[in-house]
Amino acid sequence: MHLTFSDKERQMKLRAIYDHESQVFGPEFLGIISQINRSALELKNRLGIVDASIVERSAEILNTVLYDSVELSFWIYVIELKRYIGWLFDHSINVALISLFIASRMNYDSKLMSHIALGGFLHDIGKISIPKEIILKPGKLDKNEMTLMQNHCRTGYSMVSNLGLSQESLNIILHHHERMDGSGYPFGLTGDKLSDGAKIAMIADSLDAMTSPRPYQQIKTTSEAITDLFNYKNAYCNELLSILPSFFCKK
Ligand SMILES: [Fe+2]
Ligand SMILES: [Fe+2]
Repeated sequence: MHLTFSDKERQMKLRAIYDHESQVFGPEFLGIISQINRSALELKNRLGIVDASIVERSAEILNTVLYDSVELSFWIYVIELKRYIGWLFDHSINVALISLFIASRMNYDSKLMSHIALGGFLHDIGKISIPKEIILKPGKLDKNEMTLMQNHCRTGYSMVSNLGLSQESLNIILHHHERMDGSGYPFGLTGDKLSDGAKIAMIADSLDAMTSPRPYQQIKTTSEAITDLFNYKNAYCNELLSILPSFFCKK
């Protein structure tokens, strides 16, 4: 993987954007690099990932991809996501990282890896348009709330569709809730219509959601979550699912 920035250079680049746009960005903007590295370590411990190098490599790819993105409007979305709900930002980082773990076993080229990282990171960007009370609601969502929630894929796609992202990153944002058997949303597409990135992100998204504390669910261990994913194996790409157990010690 070709790396373009060291952490120090990234920090300087962030500082330059921040100094120029301090009206737009608050001081939390400067903490994003350390947050990605912190999240990677937390994810490694929480999921019980055996191979530390895959975590480090994935965090490096995500950092590189983000700091290659000089578009001001891109950073405005990143900061909005960070400010919106704390765990939603952590989840965004985690989905990007888990997607990269899986993708690293598929021998994709560095370009596709970057697109998967960025798509995973922004997959839930549409949720910043949903009222917080709905996202944080502990009980079941009613029909209207569910419709609003399910709209986040389309909303996210249209929010960032003019930021110059690759089609693969956009596919991930639009299709990460589709399922191989056509049981997902927003379009009910089947696996033959879904990109590799979207198939990876749907697994990463479900795995992180099941193993993270949320107001509306009981947390699962990594092995319980993987068992659940295999129980729904018609919904997920089996070739990609079969990669998962090799990353984790029993936890
Ligand atoms: Fe989502
Ligand atoms: Fe998600």
